Amino acid sequence: MDLYKGRFSGKTASIAHEFNSSIGTDYKLYKVDIKGSKAHAKMLEKCGIINQEELKKIVSGLDSVLEDIESGKLEFSKEAEDIHMFIESELTNRIGDAGKKLHTARSRNDQVALDVKLFTIEVAQRAIDALVELEETIFEIAKDNLNSIMPGYTHLQIAQPVTFAHHIMAYAQMFLRDISRIKDAKKRMMTSPLGAGALATTTYNIDRSFTAKELEFESPTLNSMDSVSDRDHVVELLYCYSNVGMHFSRLAEELIIYSSQEFKFITIADEYSSGSSIMPQKKNPDMAELLRAKSARLYSNLMGIMTMLKGIPLAYNKDMQEDKEYLFDSVETFEISIEVLNGMLATMKVNSERMREMAHKGYINATDTADYLVKKGLAFRDAYYITGSIVKYGISENLSLNEIPLEKYKEFSDVFEEDYYKYIDLDYILNERKVFGGPSAKSVEEQISLTKIQLESLKKQ
Ligand code: ARG
Repeated sequence: MDLYKGRFSGKTASIAHEFNSSIGTDYKLYKVDIKGSKAHAKMLEKCGIINQEELKKIVSGLDSVLEDIESGKLEFSKEAEDIHMFIESELTNRIGDAGKKLHTARSRNDQVALDVKLFTIEVAQRAIDALVELEETIFEIAKDNLNSIMPGYTHLQIAQPVTFAHHIMAYAQMFLRDISRIKDAKKRMMTSPLGAGALATTTYNIDRSFTAKELEFESPTLNSMDSVSDRDHVVELLYCYSNVGMHFSRLAEELIIYSSQEFKFITIADEYSSGSSIMPQKKNPDMAELLRAKSARLYSNLMGIMTMLKGIPLAYNKDMQEDKEYLFDSVETFEISIEVLNGMLATMKVNSERMREMAHKGYINATDTADYLVKKGLAFRDAYYITGSIVKYGISENLSLNEIPLEKYKEFSDVFEEDYYKYIDLDYILNERKVFGGPSAKSVEEQISLTKIQLESLKKQ
C-alpha cells in the first residue's frame, strides 16, 4: 500500500492485504461515499480550509468518478484497501494536488461511519416502501375474500370459522408494526458522525452542522468517540429485518401448507413454483420454502453483528469493518424476499369453495352450540359439557352438528328448538361476530379501512 510508505519499510504481505482489504464488499458504498465527500469538501471551502478553485475541481472530479463507476468504465481495483481509499486515489489521479486536500480534517473512521449511516437510512426507507406495497397487496386480497369462510385453527386443529380476509389481515397488522418499527429506528439514525475525525475531532475550525444539514441529517452527533464506534443503527435495522423475516416465514409456512393436496386452500401461480426433476406431476412451493428459510439468514446476521460488536473497546477498531458483511447480506436477502412474496401473493388463487367445505368439518360450530344453550339460560360450563357429549355422539355416528336430528338434541337438553340450526349456520356464525377486530365481513371492512388510515399516518411521520 503506497499510502503507508512514509511510515513503513516493509510492504504488506499479499495475503495480509487480501485479509485486510474490504473493497470486495464495501464497493457498494461508492455512491454515499462520494455524496459524503462532496459535502465535506463544500464545508472545507466554506470554512476557508480549501479554496473555491480546489472545491470546484474536487466536486467535478468526484462527479466524473461517480459517472464512470455507474457506466462501468471504472472498475474497482483489488489493489485498494477499501472504497474510501479507492475513490480518493482515483480522484487525485484525475485532478492532481486538489485531490490530496479532500481528506483534510477527516478520518476514514468518521467517513465510514457516515457512509454506513447514509446507506442504512436509504435501505431503511426502501424497506418501508416495499412493506407499504406489500400491505396494499394484502388489502386487495382481503377485499376479495370478505366472505370466503375458512376454518380458523389453534394447534393446527380446526377451531372456529373465520374468513380468508380476516386471516390475511392478521399479517397486515404484523407488517404495519414492522413499518412503524423501521420508522422509529430511522429516527435515531438522523445524526451525522462526519467531523468526529479518527475519534477526537480536529483542530481545524470545521462546521459539523453545515455537513449535517447538507446531508439531510437533523444534527451532528454529540460525542466524537461514540460517533465512530456506534453501529447501533445497523443492529436496529437488522433486528427489524429479522422480525419481518419471522413474519415472512410464518406466512410462507401457511402458503406451503395451504397449497398442499390435503388443504388445497390456495394455488400458488406457476410463475412462483418449481417442478421436480423426476416426478412429472409435481408442483412444489420452492419460493415459499426459501422465504421460510431466509429468516435464518436475517437472524444470523443480527447475531453476527451483535457478537462482533461486543467487547470492543472505544473507539474505532478494525473489527467494525465486518459490519458491512452482515448489513449487505441482510439488505439483499430482505429485498429479494419481499419482492418474491409480494409477487406470489398477488398471483396466487384463493379456492374459497374448498375452504368453505373444510370449514364444515371438525365440529367447528361446537362453541356456537354451547353459546346457544347459554342464550337459552344454561351456565356456560354446563353448556360446554353437554356440547362435548353431543360432539362425542356425532363422532361415533359420523354425523356433523348440522346433521344430528332435533329429537337427538333434545335427549341431551330439552332447551334445543328448531331455531338452533340457524345459530350454527356458518354464515350466521361469522356475521354475528361483529365485535371490533372480529371476522365478520363488516368488522374486516372496518379493519381494512382503519389499517389504511394508520398506514397513511405512518407515511406522513
Ligand atoms: N474499511 C474500513 C471499514 O470499513 C474503513 C475504516 C478504516 N479505518 C482505519 N483506521 N483503519 O471499517
